[in-house]
Amino acid sequence: SSEDFEKEYDLIIIGSGIAGLISAYYAPENLKIALLSKDKLEESNTYYAQGGIAVALNPEDSPELHYKDTLNAGAEFNEEKIVRIVVHEGIERVKDLIKLGVNFDKHNGLSFTKEAAHSKRRILHAQGDATGYEIARVMINLVRNKNNIDIYEHHMLVDLLTHEDEVYGGIFFDTKEKKIKIFTSRYTILATGGAGQLYLHTTNPLTATGDGLAVAFRAGARIMDLEFFQFHPTALDIDSPQRFLISEAVRGEGAHLLNAFGERFMLNYHPLAELAPRDVVTRAIFFEMTETQDKIYLDLRPIGEKRIKDRFPNIYKKCMEYGIDITKDLVPVSPAAHYFMGGIETDENGRTSLKNLYACGEVACTGLHGANRLASNSLLEGLVFGKRCIDTILNEDPAKPRSIPNNKSIHVNSFSLGEVEKMIKILRKTLWEKVGIIREEKELKEAENIIHENLYEKLGSCTIIDRSFFELKNMLLISKLMINSALIRKESRGAHFRLDYPKSKEEWRKHIIWEREKEVIF
Ligand code: FAD
Ligand code: SIN
Repeated sequence: SSEDFEKEYDLIIIGSGIAGLISAYYAPENLKIALLSKDKLEESNTYYAQGGIAVALNPEDSPELHYKDTLNAGAEFNEEKIVRIVVHEGIERVKDLIKLGVNFDKHNGLSFTKEAAHSKRRILHAQGDATGYEIARVMINLVRNKNNIDIYEHHMLVDLLTHEDEVYGGIFFDTKEKKIKIFTSRYTILATGGAGQLYLHTTNPLTATGDGLAVAFRAGARIMDLEFFQFHPTALDIDSPQRFLISEAVRGEGAHLLNAFGERFMLNYHPLAELAPRDVVTRAIFFEMTETQDKIYLDLRPIGEKRIKDRFPNIYKKCMEYGIDITKDLVPVSPAAHYFMGGIETDENGRTSLKNLYACGEVACTGLHGANRLASNSLLEGLVFGKRCIDTILNEDPAKPRSIPNNKSIHVNSFSLGEVEKMIKILRKTLWEKVGIIREEKELKEAENIIHENLYEKLGSCTIIDRSFFELKNMLLISKLMINSALIRKESRGAHFRLDYPKSKEEWRKHIIWEREKEVIF
């Protein structure tokens, strides 16, 4: 029956990381809501977040200092109004989280850790080094107990339903039953997270393929800042589709970075050494690895054995599984794609450029992070804007639910899955090598050609109904726009570093924004 594949809601929330969960929690009981996620509710970047959540609650700290540090790390490319909102409102939201049962670590009151480019100890953490897990645990439990929310796991958003510049729901692929389903809704919140899987090496789980961004772009929404992708300096240097992260908090607590000769090379790169902004440390490691043609290590021993085990139980356990005892051994680390600063352009209320479509969390680009995100500011952003999206919806004029159009047939052609997987591998390798930590025109153009000729053209008109195919299609679209943005921005700023234009330029203090069928807008 049609009930199987057509559902009607007041609000659909897509994504079950911190942003989607917070939206779902704060949505009023009188709205009929669907919360959908591509995998299990738990599989998200949020779930793997380690270091913590930045918030000026320490008596010796202030929102003003948090504001300054955010701008400084962001290469002064941040939207100042948004930064102000987040550093202030974040305090209230974090207090709410505590009331809801999130158990942040305490030591004579709340315990604050330090991370790179923070001038104060400002980062709340939970279960030592499993902050995201703790937040997800509490919020998933709360959301599961709400009567007005239907939860659909393993439901992948394929495209949005639009009429002119208005969104009225989405087309989903049920990855378990292998069925297409239509969800109509008055309001749609996109909280689909990041896109680390675009790169060969990433800290992000397999779900992070930039779907929300691609879907929003196809629907006509404006997307911006795609040339800014953050590479975390210290992922465990062991091959795996999702690299295990060694939290920046270990450096905050005193760990050093050493090259193969045992030298603390960061002292040569920046006055803050290991605690320089993330993009600076990442490039330093990259140069050092290239120069020595050898590995780079984290040395946690200055922290002391007992403190290591107390503060980083999860990292300790995981490294032990790889035969590395972090209380004694040097830990081989290397950079990995971590966080997408770019995203769907949103205003301070979570509105996108399309009617009835809102976005929050990593998929959105509020301008909070500028050209390089300050550590532990993204859980905070998801928290603040997850709630703001709901507040905005409550203030909108209630519109009538739309009916879905008649033409919803889906054409299926055959295309082998093996081929799709091969293409995904080529894509990830190309982006890692040519659109990564260090960029230049020649390589960006090569990447553009590889993507176009070997992947885009081949994909052509073929469609199969499978998650990996839809992901490939989205990743190709985002890569094309990313490469073009990186080519257009002829300067270096924050995470975007061009060998051929190594300096920041005042005239480039502007955003590159893409909109379907339109020229680039600055
Ligand atoms: P996510 O948590 O990524 O959730 C996205 C959701 O969308 C998932 O449920 C996913 O399944 C779903 N989804 C995706 N595509 C689709 C689709 N097509 N259809 C349906 N559903 C879809 N930030 C900090 O502030 N502090 C930290 O300590 C920290 N540590 C980190 C450690 C690691 C290893 C990683 C990877 C990131 C870390 N970050 C940290 C960054 C931070 O975790 C993320 O930016 C943040 O959690 C993003 O939240 P989100 O709700 O926007 O998205
Ligand atoms: C970390 O723990 O190093 C991650 C912090 C972040 O990405 O904000």
